Amino acid sequence: MISDSEFYCWLEAASLAPSADNMQPWAFKKRDDEIEVYYIKERSLPTDTLDMFGLISVGAAIQNIIITAENRGFSCKITYPNHATFDKLVALLCFSSCESNNELADCIPIRSTNRAPYDIRTKLSNTQIFLLQKSTASFPVSCQYIFDKPQFEEIALLDAQSSYIRLEYQPFHDELFDILRFSRSENEKYRYGLTFESLEVPDFAVFFAKFLKFRLFNDLVSKLGFGKLVAYSLSRKLTKSSCLCLISVTERDCKSYIEAGRGLEQLWLTCTKMGLSVQPYGVLPQYLTKLDIEPRFFTEKYKNKLFKHKEKFNAVFTESSTKFPALLLRIGQTDQISKRSSIRITTNNINLN
Ligand SMILES: Cc1cc2nc3c(=O)[nH]c(=O)nc-3n(C[C@H](O)[C@H](O)[C@H](O)COP(=O)(O)O)c2cc1C
Repeated sequence: MISDSEFYCWLEAASLAPSADNMQPWAFKKRDDEIEVYYIKERSLPTDTLDMFGLISVGAAIQNIIITAENRGFSCKITYPNHATFDKLVALLCFSSCESNNELADCIPIRSTNRAPYDIRTKLSNTQIFLLQKSTASFPVSCQYIFDKPQFEEIALLDAQSSYIRLEYQPFHDELFDILRFSRSENEKYRYGLTFESLEVPDFAVFFAKFLKFRLFNDLVSKLGFGKLVAYSLSRKLTKSSCLCLISVTERDCKSYIEAGRGLEQLWLTCTKMGLSVQPYGVLPQYLTKLDIEPRFFTEKYKNKLFKHKEKFNAVFTESSTKFPALLLRIGQTDQISKRSSIRITTNNINLN
């Protein structure tokens, strides 16, 4: 039987997990020695094909619970309900007491998305690369690492061209402005979504961005080329990295995406432990998935662009032609402390008991 105080401690760890656009689409219910994990559809992103990013986020929260529980003398067995539906119970965690510890637990409160440029002179040592590869070895995911500058350049260009679609194409644009938080009062009201301070953009850009919400202004700015400039400058940071890592899955189902999220968190916490910074880049895997599953979502203009991106992406990340890309990460070292997204849903609100 899991005590209430133990459960709250695990919920605290779950709430610190990374999530796409900080949507925190998770909730938990305790029953004796089991925890039911729910995917909360209201906090998913409307354009998230197959709920890929939502489920990856839930997987990361699950991994934080498992690591914390292991560090406090429990072992966990995870099962996935047959035909898990995307908006309901997605996993069951069953705990038993055992002699165990897990030192990654100390990294949970200090892990963050670091959006600063990383030091390009820092190369990862063979030991670091080995530890990164080892961290995901027990998960059914594939992680392909690239280390060469020309490959970074190629991916940065593709990312910029895809990110630009997010600003320009109405369904993505509207979704983005739904989850951006511009003020402290908005942060407090929602407690999920992306705060401007965590995106590390200058104050004038925050002021300016508020107006991009309005379609006419956004169209004008797009025509002047400002959107392209922003997309290119954010994507350039992909070249300021020690390595890029593509996490892929072999099946496009609920279980595989949750396992990818668990692997992601294990890898991220391992990086944190080694003093390495991480920033996910979701746009390319998200659009390439969408292109396969619901191509009609895109207009002909975007579809043609994205087919070309897919070819070039597969030429760099060769594994993605046989597997399904889930998330791209840049990894490296920086002295700049990241401004962690401070808004989190309270543990009471993710507790379904
Ligand atoms: C599936 C997934 C996709 C993400 N995509 C991006 C991204 O494209 N760009 C980015 O800067 N951060 C991305 N993030 C990081 C989240 O924005 C971040 O985890 C969230 O805002 C919480 O902040 P924290 O990681 O500092 O705790 C992603 C995270 C996840 C789990």
